[in-house]
Amino acid sequence: NANGVKAGKTRNIVEKLEESGKNCIIFYGSQTGTAEDYASRLAKEGKSRFGLETMVADLEDFDFDNLDAVPSDKVVMFVLATYGEGEPTDNAVDFYEFISGEDVSFSGDNDPPLDNLNYVAFGLGNNTYEHYNSMVRNVNKALEKLGAHRIGDAGEGDDGAGTMEEDFLAWKDPMWAALASKMGLEEREAVYEPVFSIVEREGLTKDSPEVYLGEPNKMHLEGTAKGPFNAHNPYIAPIAESRELFSVKDRNCLHMEVDISGSNLSYQTGDHIAVWPTNPGQEVDRFMDILDLTHKRDNVISVKPLEPTAKVPFPTPTTYDAIVRYHLEICSPVSRQFVATLASFAPDDESKAEMTRLGGDKEYFHEKISVHHLNIAGVLKTVSKGKKWTNVPFSVLIESVTKLQPRYYSISSSSLVQPKKISITAVVEAQELPGREEPFRGVATNYLLALKQKQNGDPNPTPFGATYEIMGPRNKYDGIHVPVHVRHSNFKLPSDPSKPIILIGPGTGVAPFRAFVQERAQQAKNGENVGKTILFFGCRRRSEDYLYEQEWDEYKKVLGDKFELVTAFSREGSKKVYVQHRLKERSKEINELLEKKAYFYVCGDAANMAREVNSVLSQILAENRGITEAKAEEIVKNMRAANQYQEDVWS
Ligand code: FAD
Ligand code: 2AM
Repeated sequence: NANGVKAGKTRNIVEKLEESGKNCIIFYGSQTGTAEDYASRLAKEGKSRFGLETMVADLEDFDFDNLDAVPSDKVVMFVLATYGEGEPTDNAVDFYEFISGEDVSFSGDNDPPLDNLNYVAFGLGNNTYEHYNSMVRNVNKALEKLGAHRIGDAGEGDDGAGTMEEDFLAWKDPMWAALASKMGLEEREAVYEPVFSIVEREGLTKDSPEVYLGEPNKMHLEGTAKGPFNAHNPYIAPIAESRELFSVKDRNCLHMEVDISGSNLSYQTGDHIAVWPTNPGQEVDRFMDILDLTHKRDNVISVKPLEPTAKVPFPTPTTYDAIVRYHLEICSPVSRQFVATLASFAPDDESKAEMTRLGGDKEYFHEKISVHHLNIAGVLKTVSKGKKWTNVPFSVLIESVTKLQPRYYSISSSSLVQPKKISITAVVEAQELPGREEPFRGVATNYLLALKQKQNGDPNPTPFGATYEIMGPRNKYDGIHVPVHVRHSNFKLPSDPSKPIILIGPGTGVAPFRAFVQERAQQAKNGENVGKTILFFGCRRRSEDYLYEQEWDEYKKVLGDKFELVTAFSREGSKKVYVQHRLKERSKEINELLEKKAYFYVCGDAANMAREVNSVLSQILAENRGITEAKAEEIVKNMRAANQYQEDVWS
């Protein structure tokens, strides 16, 4: 972690446990930070309730060939997210390949090989995807096959149903009970034991050069920005251009061009770009205010791990303000467990009782907190009726609030056309929600909007009045920049450009398809034989949110009949028309193209659209080929397995 303290040098689990005196190691396979978050929650709970000596570890920091030597009085936990099409998260790839490999082998000669190993498993998945929680399921199977002993059930959390948090809470209690009985642990009155100490640095001010003020990376502050740029170290990219594709009352869509020419970053058509956002000023102020931090927000502090396995997740010395603004996810909804954790630090007995009730009662929590989508400041303020929370140790916040996460965007440019400039197409999130004084605003998209407004010299910081300290007050960069990294994906055009392609991309789901069509137009210009390209695009109204309308005409001029755009405007008539309805209307032709081995791509909303498209495709095959739907579904499954059907979907 380039922002924090490096993990210990050893990659040997057994050595690590021994040298640090731990008896429980919690590995996470995390893409967006939730699994990592759950892992640290388990670590804290194990320690405070049962006195377990826990440590959290990134799967990618260790080797696993001596799992067979982990002493049987210790326990290894796995918190594993499933990513995309049933894939491991980036940091879990090597572990997954090792443990599920045909010829997995270990250093010792146990029989069965992992007879020594006690493990616990929880998976994070999304039931709207075909391979629901396949990561935890497959790892669990592999471990069982190798003779390891699972404690409690292998839990599964479902983001698709929106029950992740409750699934986690419901799973962990029986797991703790089973673990306590297996390891002979006694439950004790939970005591808060800080993992970090916070030391006020009176000799330093926020103007002292060594104080980190939120520049996305300390190296950038020191002017030594170096690659590799990745999920631990963003590249501070100039924004070459930014504009609005459309803007109506409470919705708008941004197009941005991010210049990567000053870095060694590269991308391929179909990849993702990650944007590292900053919290909006108003939310930082609210958080500071209710936690009574405002008067000392610029005080300089050092954050030090109290045990060798803990990593400080940002550079220090720093200020309270910089930590809250750049490193904590303070805008997202609060978890029930977090509320329970804060109960003991409440400003009065009434608030304490209310927090305890909220933390323990699922229905009550839902009614009072979840339906109002309250963030941390919102919950604290509501519960204490505005009284300040002066007793919350800052270390609790660093340990328990999720880390501010980068957000991913499907790159909407072709690397053949512009290898050093990455396009982003993003809808700005601002939702009116019942019971809230103001709309909910997405963190990253409103930050991007603020960057765009600033670049274009708009006098309003954003249409909503949000203000941003963009990349720290000492930001040395001329012009407008955004911290990014690139994530390679498997969502790729066929290597043979003469193959036909069918693209389904309503809304911002069209992003990677703009890249695909741009690429094919370039290939045609280069004299290559380009196959038929049909794009199904859907939006509300032609006059409202039609993305890249003029550009499609330009591509059409180059590609001629090789390119066809089919539109579905959902709110123009009395009945909703969606991309899958248009697909169905072209049933015969779609089937013929697929028989000619056309590639089929879907991008955008995972929850409904992608599923419905999948089932319409099965219907199309059944009806044209005179087969049952069950048979057609099997064909679609095989198409997926052969990469002839590819999805780039999110929820
Ligand atoms: P966040 O702050 O992350 O909030 C996201 C949503 O969470 C909100 O809309 C809301 O529903 C809910 N929410 C969170 N907190 C609260 C709260 N306190 N109250 C109420 N609701 C809340 N998006 C695009 O526009 N274009 C793309 O090309 C694109 N490609 C993607 C590709 C991948 C692989 C993935 C995983 C996602 C992609 N996304 C894309 C989605 C994108 O990553 C972001 O999720 C999206 O832009 C919202 O980010 P945000 O920070 O603005 O919102
Ligand atoms: P709607 O909002 O009018 O219902 C981009 O967001 C487009 O996708 C909009 O036209 C939206 O229509 C449409 N859309 C909403 N739900 C959909 C679904 N289940 N399948 C396909 N398109 C959908």
